[in-house]
Order: sequence, then C-alpha cells, then structure tokens
Amino acid sequence: MDIAQLTIDPAFRIGDVHRRIFGSFVEHMGRCVYGGVFEPGHPRADERGLRGDVLELTRELGATVIRYPGGNFVSGSRWEDGVGPAGDRPRRLDLAWKTVEPNAFGLDEFMTWTRAAGAEPMMAVNLGTRGVQEACDLLEYANHPGGTRLSDLRRAHGSAEPYGIRLWCLGNELDGPWQVGHKTADEYGRLAAETARAMKMIDPDVSLVACGSSGRGMPTFAAWEATVLEHTYEHVDYISAHTYYDPSDGDRPSILASAVDMDAFITEVVATADHVAAKQRHRRKLKISFDEWNVWYQSRLRADLDRRGWVEAPALIEDTYTATDAVVVGDLLVTLLRHADRVGVACQAQLVNVIAPIRTEKGGPAWRQTIFHPFALTARHARGAVLRTEPVAPQYDTARHGRVSGVDTVAVHDPETGYLNVFAVNRLDRDVILDCDLRAFPGIAGAGHITLDAGADPDAVNTAAAPDRVTPRQGDRPAIDGGRCQVRLPAISWNLLRFTSPTH
Ligand code: AHR
Repeated sequence: MDIAQLTIDPAFRIGDVHRRIFGSFVEHMGRCVYGGVFEPGHPRADERGLRGDVLELTRELGATVIRYPGGNFVSGSRWEDGVGPAGDRPRRLDLAWKTVEPNAFGLDEFMTWTRAAGAEPMMAVNLGTRGVQEACDLLEYANHPGGTRLSDLRRAHGSAEPYGIRLWCLGNELDGPWQVGHKTADEYGRLAAETARAMKMIDPDVSLVACGSSGRGMPTFAAWEATVLEHTYEHVDYISAHTYYDPSDGDRPSILASAVDMDAFITEVVATADHVAAKQRHRRKLKISFDEWNVWYQSRLRADLDRRGWVEAPALIEDTYTATDAVVVGDLLVTLLRHADRVGVACQAQLVNVIAPIRTEKGGPAWRQTIFHPFALTARHARGAVLRTEPVAPQYDTARHGRVSGVDTVAVHDPETGYLNVFAVNRLDRDVILDCDLRAFPGIAGAGHITLDAGADPDAVNTAAAPDRVTPRQGDRPAIDGGRCQVRLPAISWNLLRFTSPTH
C-alpha cells in the first residue's frame, strides 16, 4: 500500500487559527434569504419569520462570521429600502440576479438573525451604483450610538444600542464586467480609499476590506490588486479574494486538487500586497479576507438566469453536492488554515440553498448537504496554533493543476487543552497509509479518527428523502508506538485525526 510520511512538531508554528475564517455568506440571491433563513408561516419559523431549523443548523455548522447582503446583489442595492415598517418597504428590481426584491428582510432582521446564530456580522456597502455618502449613512445607522438623524432612525426601529458592526466590505467584485457599476482598478481604488477614510472618521474601530479580484483567472488579476492597494493600503485592513471550483466537466482528479490552486492564489495575493507595502514603506502586513469560496457547478447558472422573467426568490444555483465535493471543501479549509499568518477572514459562499451546506424545502425540512460535515468538524476542532506540515506522499498528474501531492495535511495544536488535530485529505483513488512522526509531543495518545470517505460512492449525495446518506464515520483510535503512528486514509477521503498530549 502507498505510504505518506508526516512529521509534526510544535516548533513549526505558522500562526494562531483565526476563528473568523469559519465564516459564511447570506446574499439576497435565489432562496438564500427568502425560503432559506427567512420564511414567515413556516412551521419552524418564529414570529419574525426566522426559520428555527435553519438557525439550529447554522449554529451546528459553527459559522463564526456572516457576510451580507451580497455579493453581486449589493452593487445595485439601497440599504434603506430594507429598514423600517414592513408595509413601507419598496419592491425593487435586482439587476444582479434578475429578481424582484421585496425588502421584507433587511439590516435589522439580519442583525436579529445573526445574533441568534451566534455569529459576527460582516456588512458590504454598495460601491457599484453608490458611493461615499451612502456608505457613511449606512455606517451611521448601524454603529453610531444616537442623537443624529440616522442613528435615531435605528433607535426608532427598535434597536436602542448600536449594532457595533466591525467588519465591512468596500463593495463586491468590482473588477468583474458582470458587476452593476463595474470599474477600472483606478476608479475603484480611488473610491474605496475615499470611502474608507470617511468610514473610519465615523467609527475608527471598523475593519475594512478592499475588493481584490473575483478570481485568479481574471485577466486583470494581480494588476488589479496592485493598483487598488496603491490607492487603499494605508486605509484598509484586508484585501478580498474569491474563488469557486467547478466539477461540471467530471474531471475528478483535477477537482480533488482544487486546493493547489487556492494555495497559489493566496501566495500570489500576499506577494502583490507585500510588493505595494515595500513600495510605499508600510510595516503592517495586510491580511486576506477570502470572503467567497466554494465548489460551484457554474455551468448551470446561465440556464437558471435565462429560464425566467422577473420573479421573487427563484431557485438559483441550488447545487446538490457529492461526497467528492465534500472532500474538496475539507481540503480548501486545510489550505485556509495553512495560511493562518495571512488569511484573517474567510466566508464559504453561501449558507442556505444557493451553493450551500444547508438546503431547505418551502414549508418543509432543512438538511445538511455533504459539504456541511467537513466545515462543521473543522470549525469545531481547529483551535490553537496552526503547525506547518509537509507530507511526503505519492504524486499524481492532473489536467488543471499539473503534478500534485496525493495527500494534503495541516495540523492544529491547542497547548491549553493538549489536543493535536490533524486534518488530512487523500486525493488518490486508493487507500494510503499516513505514517506520522509525533515524537516532538512526549506522552501523546491517540484520541480519535473521523473520516468522510467518498471512495466507495464518490457521487453520493444527501437529499430531503435521504439526508444522512453521506455523513462522517468514526474510525479506529490511532495507536501510538514510540511516538509514531500509522493511520489508513481511505481512497478519496477527508480525515480528522485527533491526539491528546499532556499540558504543562
Ligand atoms: O456567490 C454567488 C456570487 O458569486 C456572488 O454574488 C458574487 O460575488 C460571485 O460572483
């Protein structure tokens, strides 16, 4: 059997896990809001229309941050349409998704929902069709304590205390020609810098995210980041990155190596940000907000959009994920963890129904998609310091990513609890023995092995009728012998190996 060698040592510390990397995303798109988090009249909805079953699953998922309200939606939206008495809220055309937006759910409902979910809000301002003033108005409404027109309006709407929203995105994907209000890097960079300066005058405690590229494959990638950061570096805290991996062509070896691309993307954004820092003599290292990432069967979007006229909350890109997709998602999380020194925020896109870990039926059940599981387990167990690991594993060739390692790993050690958690992905279509050298952890003991094993049925999915067809299972507890252990990683699998070491 193939063997992969792994040495783990607490001395190889990359940085602490940023809990904000376990974020998710609620956009006014398809049935994410309407029929997802919000469905008045549903048997599990409360008096405000918030679905209790979706809230429970969101808490179980462990989403730490929720980005809102878009996405492409934000670039043509008016935040004030979504606050105030429900009967006064206008219906509008949403150009991004060719949808009628009823505005029954807005900022105030989102804040109520986010608190109930136990997550931190991350707001985006519209820098597509709007500018500095509207961003300042929204921030005044949300964060100013009171005594001004907009903060008093919030109070009149029932929130005496300011929302205190810390994370703000300065627009969304403005490099993309599809974006309402698409801009050149110079146009956007100037606008983002001016907006950032004004927002920090209102609330110096906000953390701001400048838009990076909407994908590594964009023709302007890297040049966009360089120009935008030349305008904004001193005013912002993060540069965003977005990526989606499309399994539509059925090339399983390539999709399983998607994390190789994400890894290169992060390295390149870091290099570009550091170039600007060097040029402008900044000491502060900029972090990345990877605020949209996932697997997405993108080939289906055009058909979804072309099929219909202007309607409310149509089913849009409700991808059903396979067991293989879950392994890919687990590996993308391994990559985000491995860049703990530079990735400070990340949001899987999206939370419910729209390319999401949670699916719902109107008036019916909510269930966990396959991709729910690696996210929930990683969010729960990745606590402490991220340790660099360099598995020496069999390699294989892919059409999209060249020659790649068959096994990908990252380790997280919590010195307070003594837990060492190793996240290991076997991308190969055959079992591999992971041979771990743990001698740097005296007295270490095996605590558990959880595996999401796609090898037996890589196309298996969870549905309303069979919601638990793909779930993680417990493997044998790793046996330690002389500080080493050997664990079998099944073909095409995501694994969580748990160990405990004495705390001092
Ligand atoms: O998440 C779906 C869409 O993908 C978002 O609205 C947009 O930002 C990205 O292109």
